Amino acid sequence: MSERLELSGDEREALSRGGLEREVADKMIENVVGAYTLPFAIGLNLQMNGRDFLVPMVVEEPSVVAAASNAARMIRTGGGFTAESDDPVMISQVQFDDVPAPAVACAAVLEHRDELLKLADQAVPNLVRRGGGARGLEVRDLGDGMLVVHFLIDCRDAMGANLVNTVAEAVADRIAELTGGQVGLRILSNLCDQRCVRVRCSVPAASLTDEPGAAEAVRDAIVRASKFAEADPYRATTHNKGIMNGIDPVVLATGNDWRAAEAGAHAFAARDGRYRPLCTWRKGDEGNLNGTMEIPLALGVVGGPARMHKGAALGLKIAGASSAQELAMLAACVGMASNMAALRALATDGIQRGHMALHARQVAVAAGALGEEVELVAQAIHARGQVTLDAAQLSLSELRAGK
Ligand code: MEV
Repeated sequence: MSERLELSGDEREALSRGGLEREVADKMIENVVGAYTLPFAIGLNLQMNGRDFLVPMVVEEPSVVAAASNAARMIRTGGGFTAESDDPVMISQVQFDDVPAPAVACAAVLEHRDELLKLADQAVPNLVRRGGGARGLEVRDLGDGMLVVHFLIDCRDAMGANLVNTVAEAVADRIAELTGGQVGLRILSNLCDQRCVRVRCSVPAASLTDEPGAAEAVRDAIVRASKFAEADPYRATTHNKGIMNGIDPVVLATGNDWRAAEAGAHAFAARDGRYRPLCTWRKGDEGNLNGTMEIPLALGVVGGPARMHKGAALGLKIAGASSAQELAMLAACVGMASNMAALRALATDGIQRGHMALHARQVAVAAGALGEEVELVAQAIHARGQVTLDAAQLSLSELRAGK
């Protein structure tokens, strides 16, 4: 795999040590006592907008990478994913309290739109040089004398949190003069609904199973599972967790902020007042299984931890995304693949069968299996239907005794 990824000796070495030097970790955050590593894997088979991608994934949960890669293989038979993205526009929020005449204040802000956008641009000259900058503003009257002004900032290839916070701080005093209000919070919104990606796929039913005659039943079961999530927020939450199973590992592997991705995704899922699934599935006219998904996703390919963290730099290299938008689309595709894999498993065999086969390896390691023993013990306990520590210890002692 390292050869296929064209990794240098230095990169291989960095990966084997978790990608983070102790001294660098110490500069990244405070009160550091060490580094905590997670498995770094490659998601396979993903085709998006006609191009093949290898997907860097950092995650602790067994079967996430295998399931996403397997679903991506099925989706590939229908032409892969089609994805599109909004411009990378983030929202900068500036709060004002005790505004004496909110309606008049709103009008004053809108009248000074051009001046305020210019002020915003002046705060981020390097971003403007890179083709980004202020694209618009909105004023919202939240009642009780509270106004919030949104600046829409095109952050280009950055995630943009620092840029947007800089803008919020730079424009606040002038708006306070215009509105007569007290300056409150000045910070980005993680509900980045101006920065959505949309993903589609259309999978031939025959690709969904190897079982003869079962294709249409599997497709219909996935559609029913989607409708369950559409009808019930309890199920929608787990359905969306399955989507984030694919997205978060890419966010993490590329040094991006997964808490921001999570916060934005779940707020967007509840945007009409009811929590809904982000990805839905239907039978298409031609009998295919069609998936569609829309999700806000603020990822960067410049700045952030990738400057310091060799693992994150490598994640970005492996993803090979040409822009922040392309990286966000790629992560969303993995999310859709994960969702399809989960629904397919749940709607057919149940999740535990596949999960247990992979979980058995962890149990074998916990029982003390080493090297080739891990696979042998895992297979033995899985075949016996006893994926427990006791069973693994027994199997290991039998193996070592040559039984
Ligand atoms: C487990 O990590 C994710 C699932 O629960 C997702 C789902 O139920 O759709 C399997």
